[in-house]
Amino acid sequence: MAGGTFITFEGGDGSGKTTLIRSLMDRLERNGREVVVTREPGGSPIAEAIREVILHVDNTAMDPLTEALLYAASRRQHLAEKVLPALARGAVVVCDRFVDSSLVYQGYARGLGIDSVWEINRFATEGRMPDLTLYLDLDPQIGLSRIEASGRRQPDRLDLEGLDFHTRVREGYRQVAAMFPERIVMLDASGDPGPLKEQVWKLVSARLESR
Ligand SMILES: Nc1ncnc2c1ncn2[C@@H]1O[C@H](COP(=O)(O)OP(=O)(O)OP(=O)(O)O)[C@@H](O)[C@H]1O
Ligand SMILES: [Mg+2]
Repeated sequence: MAGGTFITFEGGDGSGKTTLIRSLMDRLERNGREVVVTREPGGSPIAEAIREVILHVDNTAMDPLTEALLYAASRRQHLAEKVLPALARGAVVVCDRFVDSSLVYQGYARGLGIDSVWEINRFATEGRMPDLTLYLDLDPQIGLSRIEASGRRQPDRLDLEGLDFHTRVREGYRQVAAMFPERIVMLDASGDPGPLKEQVWKLVSARLESR
């Protein structure tokens, strides 16, 4: 098994993933760790090409299971090409969204079923799941208003889906967190960034020291 530590962040739009990942990366580096921060498809050209098939405007006829398989395929390539080699070197790998996002978005919110999506993702990851997942739980309305207030990016297609969809996403995350209680820690993401950063640091450093 790889010697590094694999940490993922999950949560709805505007829940604070990027903010907390940046602060964690700085702190890990100050502690002399090799840190690899990534997100799918993570600059892997093959994973990127698979993702382009999913997102291509011409592919409106795409079957939902095909879509789920392609997401799993893209994830597999990013894992094999980027995450596993970094873990083998002993790095701390911090990934912005991973398997749980598929379980929640395709499995729960889009209705394919969490169990079916988990089956293909278990195959794709060969069981190499994160050592620790931090799920940022937040009222989706607050998340969307943070994105709007920041003005840093235009709301995308998913942001603009109805509040219903985002509410299902939150429900889905809570179900998935309950499925993997030893791996996923749910954090109340409505608080101030400072205390949240401290909470993340405590959880991650405890995980690193336990190895
Ligand atoms: N705890 C917090 N309290 C208030 N505002 C926050 C908090 N955390 C992050 N923000 C602000 O909310 C906005 C969204 O945060 P961030 O980009 O970290 O979220 P994200 O989960 O990465 O969102 P996205 O779905 O866009 O990737 C940013 O402008 C950020 O500065
Ligand atoms: Mg982000």
